[in-house]
Amino acid sequence: MKIKEQHIGFNVEAIRKDFPILKRKINGKPLIYFDNAATSQTPQQVIDVIVDYYSNYNANIHRGVHSLSQEATDAYELARHKIQKHFNAAYSHEIIFTAGTTHGINLVANGFASLIKENDEVIVSALEHHSNIVPWQMLCERTGAKLHVIPMNQEGDLELSKYEALLNSKTKLVFVNHVSNALGTINPIKSIIEKAHDVGAAVLVDGAQSCPHIKPDVKDLDVDFYVCSAHKICGPTGVGMLYGKEKWLKTLPPYQGGGEMISEVTFEKTTYADLPHKFEAGTPNVCGGIAFGAALDYMNAIGFDAIASYENELLNYATDKLLEIEGLKIYGTSKQKTSVISFNVGNIHPYDIGTLLDKMGIAVRTGHHCAQPIMDYYQIPGTIRASFMFYNTKDEIDVFISSLKKAIVMLS
Ligand code: ALA
Repeated sequence: MKIKEQHIGFNVEAIRKDFPILKRKINGKPLIYFDNAATSQTPQQVIDVIVDYYSNYNANIHRGVHSLSQEATDAYELARHKIQKHFNAAYSHEIIFTAGTTHGINLVANGFASLIKENDEVIVSALEHHSNIVPWQMLCERTGAKLHVIPMNQEGDLELSKYEALLNSKTKLVFVNHVSNALGTINPIKSIIEKAHDVGAAVLVDGAQSCPHIKPDVKDLDVDFYVCSAHKICGPTGVGMLYGKEKWLKTLPPYQGGGEMISEVTFEKTTYADLPHKFEAGTPNVCGGIAFGAALDYMNAIGFDAIASYENELLNYATDKLLEIEGLKIYGTSKQKTSVISFNVGNIHPYDIGTLLDKMGIAVRTGHHCAQPIMDYYQIPGTIRASFMFYNTKDEIDVFISSLKKAIVMLS
């Protein structure tokens, strides 16, 4: 995908024209979309790929000798190569298409049920989304392994000295997100991975919230598993990827049985297909996978360095403006953050502010953000969360701040 001339030098107004939804009005006001951590918006270039797929070459893949099936298969496998290149995986068969981050985590947790034993230990961080807590609790219930938690501090950083104290020869797995969805903290995953490897433990990194902002290099990180969802990266919902080191993917048993993941089936015994198909039972989200590749093309054409630096500007601008509001407290003040701001104002309930902001055309997320342990740590029921992407602007932040001030007056 060629970058449009007008995007060079990061022209946000030109970029915004790629996103048809940004022209919408909500409750009579221009939409200001600050719920990007929940899902990102889709550029016309990706929408066109989806329309083209269903208009011209919709077919089942890996199964037909006919031309349509071949075209769909080629496009799907090309998308896998694009994902491999983006994450710098050694082999394309280390990229497993999934239905999203949660599916990828469950696939790995389920596989480890046969490798983990009673009294083994696994470590999770206090900053996790429920999707990177619950599957591991289920694994511990099945196996009798013990779950330990790396604690966090008031700034929303992990306490790494306490992490080191938890590691020992019984530690088999460590799960941590690259970026916290609720607070935006960027975790020092390279050092977390190194320390886990020193005791022989494997590491799964949940990249759902990092992938829109950071381009991870799985080889350099030496990470064992890395998971993400396409819909956080300008792609469609219902598709994602699991990166796993070849040695682990060969060791883990299949997650689901079905068509396409087999080599031979008889009633006596079934043998499984080679990677990556061993983990891809059933008809996949063919269009979604192809569109995932197109979304990566789109974002790479703009450039992750340009994206990160612009989003950092938005983060600093909004943080400064928000802190001028009396009674407003920001949760998550790490020096290493992506463009996510979680906050509350005095005793006003986050839902009330969220509802009034919606009346003014502004979309934010309110609640516990599927990260209840973080809310428990701060002893709050939830927060208002504004999360920015590279297509947001300082003008939108100005409207957000003045609308928030109006909402506070109405609720005080
Ligand atoms: N995990 C998504 C969020 O943080 C849904 O909003």
